[in-house]
Parts: sequence; C-alpha cells; structure tokens
Amino acid sequence: MDTLTSVNHNVADQKEWMPINGTDYIELYVSNSKQAAHYYKTAFGFQSLAYAGLETGIRDRESYVVVQDKIRLILTSPLNSGSEIGKHIDDHGDGVKVIALWVDDATTAYEQAISRGARHFMYPTEESDDFGKVMRSGIYTYGEVVHIFVERKEYHGIFLPGFRKWETVYNPTDTGLKYVDHMVGNVAMGRMNEWVDFYEKVMGFKQILSFDDKDISTEYTALMSKVMSNGNGRIKFPINEPAAGLKKSQVEEYLDFYEGEGVQHIAVATNNIIETVTELKSRGVEFLKVPKSYYENLLSRVGDIDEDVHTLSELGILVDRDDEGYLLQIFTKTVNPRPTMFFEIIQRKGANSFGKGNFKALFEAIEREQALRGTL
Ligand code: FE2
Repeated sequence: MDTLTSVNHNVADQKEWMPINGTDYIELYVSNSKQAAHYYKTAFGFQSLAYAGLETGIRDRESYVVVQDKIRLILTSPLNSGSEIGKHIDDHGDGVKVIALWVDDATTAYEQAISRGARHFMYPTEESDDFGKVMRSGIYTYGEVVHIFVERKEYHGIFLPGFRKWETVYNPTDTGLKYVDHMVGNVAMGRMNEWVDFYEKVMGFKQILSFDDKDISTEYTALMSKVMSNGNGRIKFPINEPAAGLKKSQVEEYLDFYEGEGVQHIAVATNNIIETVTELKSRGVEFLKVPKSYYENLLSRVGDIDEDVHTLSELGILVDRDDEGYLLQIFTKTVNPRPTMFFEIIQRKGANSFGKGNFKALFEAIEREQALRGTL
C-alpha cells in the first residue's frame, strides 16, 4: 500500500511574490532564558552569539541568541509579570513563538502577505545601530506562532540592532548541527487544509508531499500530514493534524498540553549523524528508542548504506530510502516539562522525503512514551 502522493517535485514554476532566502532565526519564549541558553549550549552544542536585556537598555525581556552553523535560536524570557511573553509561557509552556524568514524585501513580503489574507503581527519596522539597519515585519501563522520577515542586506552587526555580542568563558564545542531542515506544525483536527491553503495562497508555497492516516498510523493512533515548501526548497513546513484512532495520538497530546496549535518539532541537519548523535547522547540529550527488531530487516528494506547497521542500532538511528537516495534520522524526547516540542536530527544522502518508512516504528516509540505519561 503506497498512498504517498508526490504532488510537485518541481517547484521552479512557483509564483515568487515572496522570495525567501532561508530561515533567519527561531525565537522561543521560555520561562528561564539564561538556563535555556546554558542547556542549548551544553547539550546541543550551540555557541554564544548575542544578548539583549537590562544591560542593553531593554527593560521588559531578556534574550540570549545562540548559534550553530546556520541555526540561530533566540531564547527570550519576560522580566515582569503580566507581559505578553509571560502569558504565552503560561498558556503554552516553553515553545516557538517566531519562525523568522530571511528575505530581500521585508516591506513587500508583508504587503503581499497581508493583501493575500494574512493576519497582521508587525508592521514593516526599521531598526538601526552603528552596524547598519534591518527591516522587519510580521504575520501570524497557525496558533500564536508568527513569521517575521527579516531584511538584513544593509546590516553588518552580530545579529540584530539592539543586541550586543554575547561573550562567554564557557563555550562547549558544537555537535555538527548545520541548518534547519524542516519545522513541523501541529494543528487542530480538520484544520490541516486550511493551513496548507494559507501557505499556498499567502506565502506562495507549494505542497510537495502528502501523507494520509493510512501512511501514518499504528494499531492505536493516526495522523495526517502535508508538506509545504518555498521556491528554493530551503523552507519546508510539514503540517500535521490528528486523525481518528483507537487511542489519543501524539498530535492530540501535543494540542492538549500546548493548549493550542504550535511547532511540534525542529529538524536540524548534520553531515555525520553518527558523530552528532554520539556527541549529543554523551551530553545528556535523550532520544526515542526503537526496538532492536527494527534493524533485523533494515538492509532488505533500504538497500546498501554507507553506515554500519550495528552502530545505527546502538544509537537508535532510523533509515529510510526514496527514489532519490536515503536519509538517516532520530528524534529526541520532548525537551519541555509539557510533552510538546522535540528535535529531529537528520542526515540526507540524496533523499528529499521525510522518513515515511519509519513512521510506524517511530509512532510506536512515541506511544510507549505516551503510555508512561498516561496520555495515550
Ligand atoms: Fe520531521
């Protein structure tokens, strides 16, 4: 049974009213930015980049920016009660607020999006300091998540105006993470197509893949997913919605605990998943486990691969193949007290898909975690 539908591998004909160069940064609202920054440095190998807070004249929030190759995370906490950031944390726990997109023209991107029906978040705003100027604007997407368009061609500072370089004595080495491969949104039942339409009609994205509940189901739970991508293919946003199953799916669990729609996982790419995952594990990052039986018929399923199956099995790394090559992937346990957001580590060796062949093993692993939490 193969119900995977390849809708459009050729996105060159995409209407480019909003060309996007790539992911600019991801901002998480967290309850303790200082400790979160320490965690992402220590556990994931991010490097200190920039800081904004009381010492830089910001009175209402503190933000640490950490970087690893092309991945930039902002970790922001409020400094006072009754703030919007605090409300966000109270409602959702720690989570992604901003998926910032790097554009050449943040004003046009905003105007195009608004004229096509996007909900306003931030008017085009120029910010400047000694290192030049940045233009930013923003729109809402699913839940309370926003896209901020960042135009930085006239800026040469460390990150953004208002931030100063964050210099630290403690600088753990990186773990080989390179760039954001994709970011997945969980939306409410029946709303996936609404957000697919949003990315098509407002952002000019194309649907590149679709999975229905027959693709993504176990004995107990199911979900559906469609993958949206921009013109250059650097932005990939799978959108998940729960499907009817015997028990509560991971997407429903997320929606319950996040108390709304939001970012489920951030997939980050590495050029050497064995080295990266070995390092992450040694630093305390916890991953979902698949049973050893997964590896027994692995090679007959995916064909020849460069990696040693025993090593993959020891680390719990999953493999899948499509028409163009294969990929290796592994998923962390949720990184927050609420069972909401997690990370995926992915290495692509030609494959441009998302590991459909691993869905069943993966979701059974998630169900084992859910059972421990009493949320299945
Ligand atoms: Fe993923």
